[in-house]
Amino acid sequence: QPVYLSDYQPPAYRVTHTELTFDLDPAATRVKARLQIERQASVDATTPLQLDGEQLTLHALLIDGAPLANSDYQVTEQGLRIDQVPASFTLESDVELSPQDNTALEGLYQSNGMYCTQCEAEGFRRITFYPDRPDVMSTFKVTVIGDRQREPILLANGNPVEQGELPNGRHFATWEDPHPKPCYLFALVAGDLHKVEDHFTTQSGRKVTLQIWVEEENLQKTDHAMGSLKRAMAWDEQAYGREYDLDLFMIVAVNDFNMGAMENKGLNIFNSAAVLAHPDTATDNAFQTVEGIVAHEYFHNWSGNRVTCRDWFQLSLKEGFTVFRDQCFSAETNSAPVKRIQDVSFFRTAQFAEDAGPTAHPVRPDHYIEITNFYTLTIYEKGAEIVRMLCNLVGWEAFRQGSDQYFQRFDGQAVTIEDFVDCMAEASGLDLSQFMRWYSQAGTPEIDVHGEYDYAHGEYHLTLRQRTPATPDQVDKEPLHIPIAMGLVGTKSGQDLTLTLDGEKLGRQAVIHLRDDEQTFVFTDVAEAPVPSLLRNFSAPVKLHFPYSREDLAFLLTHDSDGFNRWDAGQRLAMLALDDLIAAHRNGVEKVMDSRVVEAFRSLLANAPADKAVLAEMLTLPSEAYIAEQQPIVDVDAIHAAREFIRQSLAMALRDEFMATFEANRSDDAYAPIPEQIAQRSLKNVALAYLVSIEDEQGLALCEAQFAADHNMTDVRHALTLLVHSDRDDLASPALKSFGEKWAHDPLVMDQWFSVQVSRPQADVIDRVKYLMAHPAFSLKNPNRVRALIGAFAQNRVNFHRLDGQGYALLADVVIELNRLNPEIAARLITPLTRWQRFDETRQELMRSQLERIQREPLSSNVYEVVEKALA
Ligand code: ARG
Ligand code: ZN
Repeated sequence: QPVYLSDYQPPAYRVTHTELTFDLDPAATRVKARLQIERQASVDATTPLQLDGEQLTLHALLIDGAPLANSDYQVTEQGLRIDQVPASFTLESDVELSPQDNTALEGLYQSNGMYCTQCEAEGFRRITFYPDRPDVMSTFKVTVIGDRQREPILLANGNPVEQGELPNGRHFATWEDPHPKPCYLFALVAGDLHKVEDHFTTQSGRKVTLQIWVEEENLQKTDHAMGSLKRAMAWDEQAYGREYDLDLFMIVAVNDFNMGAMENKGLNIFNSAAVLAHPDTATDNAFQTVEGIVAHEYFHNWSGNRVTCRDWFQLSLKEGFTVFRDQCFSAETNSAPVKRIQDVSFFRTAQFAEDAGPTAHPVRPDHYIEITNFYTLTIYEKGAEIVRMLCNLVGWEAFRQGSDQYFQRFDGQAVTIEDFVDCMAEASGLDLSQFMRWYSQAGTPEIDVHGEYDYAHGEYHLTLRQRTPATPDQVDKEPLHIPIAMGLVGTKSGQDLTLTLDGEKLGRQAVIHLRDDEQTFVFTDVAEAPVPSLLRNFSAPVKLHFPYSREDLAFLLTHDSDGFNRWDAGQRLAMLALDDLIAAHRNGVEKVMDSRVVEAFRSLLANAPADKAVLAEMLTLPSEAYIAEQQPIVDVDAIHAAREFIRQSLAMALRDEFMATFEANRSDDAYAPIPEQIAQRSLKNVALAYLVSIEDEQGLALCEAQFAADHNMTDVRHALTLLVHSDRDDLASPALKSFGEKWAHDPLVMDQWFSVQVSRPQADVIDRVKYLMAHPAFSLKNPNRVRALIGAFAQNRVNFHRLDGQGYALLADVVIELNRLNPEIAARLITPLTRWQRFDETRQELMRSQLERIQREPLSSNVYEVVEKALA
């Protein structure tokens, strides 16, 4: 039952105004809807009205005040159909639903007794009968009726217009949203909530009230989100000229939430993990995540809400652009190179893996069974990389002009990716037709580069060959337009050389455009032999292969003017050493440490770059997951052994340097999540990790002391992780115990406690997972708990991929149970099993048999689609 992009039809009926009344009850909430509906002029009068609706009990249905007879309409599992309707009319309906039984967390559900909603993508159809598609945009007036005691706070989108008392201890509040919106942006929240309030004055002088609504015990954890919100509002004005458009902006923290957060108009709903942060309970990383997500949701007010998507195939129109916007915002408020390094290393690990697996899909898919399965790294992160390439191709000025044009021309409309790219083409005068293939072609392009220096003529010849491997249902690929930012670093001068191409001087850095399968670029006037620095700042989401020698890489590590590529040179150098060690492990040969890596690290520590956060990244070895992505067949154990060997060899060789780095970066200053402190902490903690990896006595003592000092969660959690992941259970057990007792009351901290334990490499982990699943703080019904325990375990490479298959079986058990409770989370959890083709035959067999076991169950469409693709 897939849906196809090519089948798109504009809606036959529009809803011009929507009035909803919710009478809240945990088991029997009543929703009365009054919809002003109009038939599109071009549509035949005999066209039936089709509304989406799921899991709703219909109590009444009226057209222009007259009740419909049972024979006038049909209700199916998917919705409601009325064969004869006037050209313009009012449809009233009265339906019943049960929020307390809604464990899927789509539509209207209860979380800790609080009512809340999640409608994107297709949750609104679980609230009332409606054309649940983003190209139907309507104004909304919403009345919420609840219990005065249990639900003192009643929120919906827009502006509050009325409230009052009702009989039987009930009360109501009415909200009006003047901006037409698709129903996926509808939101309602009701419960015992408490707020912090602040204000922001927009550049045109509108005073906006900002509110963050939380459960009472979380009032102390909202400062960072509020500060982030204000910074984001100011940034969108300055960077994009976008101002907020209502007098009130609300954020609500909800404990049970499938994703990070949701941009509902004027009423953003957040997973509490994505909004709450306090130095005692949240790590630096969590602080940065909160800032990024608060900004992301806020930015959607324009890129998503004012201008939305015509259909869900266009999802990346709003998500790719908004992720790009939040990345730029975070880069400005934090260390820009570190932000890029972190984003890219995540991208190359996780999105490349998605592109290489059975669920690979284009940034604009052309069909799907279940749209919730497409909230993916490809749609979000690869979509953002495409927008970034666009921005770099046309230049910031034209990009900004194009963006202004886009927001102005399409304000209040539901549009397509072409509409966006056309604005950029117009603003820049560039032909972006080949570039559009990035949206339709799945898979990661690979570029093989060959470079040759011609001493005699002072020329450098760079030949690039691109190919995109086949992906499911896309065998033949066309060449893409790939912008490659590059420089040539002179081996004598250590400087970027001036680039001359086809007689044109381009400066010391240039972007070359690869459009054909193969192209050669001849740089002239190259006075000294260079090492090419390619794909600077990751200028395109591709895998680039160049036969760098280790000497080349050590040279780039210190001389490349591009900070990102200096980091990347270090990663490539480590990868070469890791490849040797992986081979040695497989062949049972003794492992030998590559002294060039040691010397490279030594010189990094001796001539540290100014940005300590960059240094911390440079001292961090590629993760096991990243290494795995580089191997033709993933050998889990060899990768783990090789990485441990390199880590410990570095720790032994540079023990004193790491100790000195640790000492130099300790601080007793009051915690603040500011870039300088974050940088210092991350560098200190990287050093500590090396020391603990060799069970250095002094290092272990420092680690214990850092844990005991209890200065901030970043340091505490890091120390706890190092102890728990070491073989020193005598130190780990008491630390885990005291941490668990201290934070038993705080679910978000307990999530960290779960994750730390189940990500250790020791073989007892599987029993620990089972044991912790019975822990009172764990619940399969809460997505954060599931991610913290089961999700983290599935990322534990050596234990999840145990050769006895127990890891796979455990995951499958959970998926089968969650398939009934929460299909969206269940479908996401399967991901590691879908990657079976990347492993050895034994593991392939074991993984497949678990997928087949899942397939034999009665499945939700979410899980069905993923398993079907995985086994195809
Ligand atoms: N639009 C939201 C965001 O990216 C996420 C929507 C989540 N949708 C879902 N089906 N879980 O900010
Ligand atoms: Zn988003």
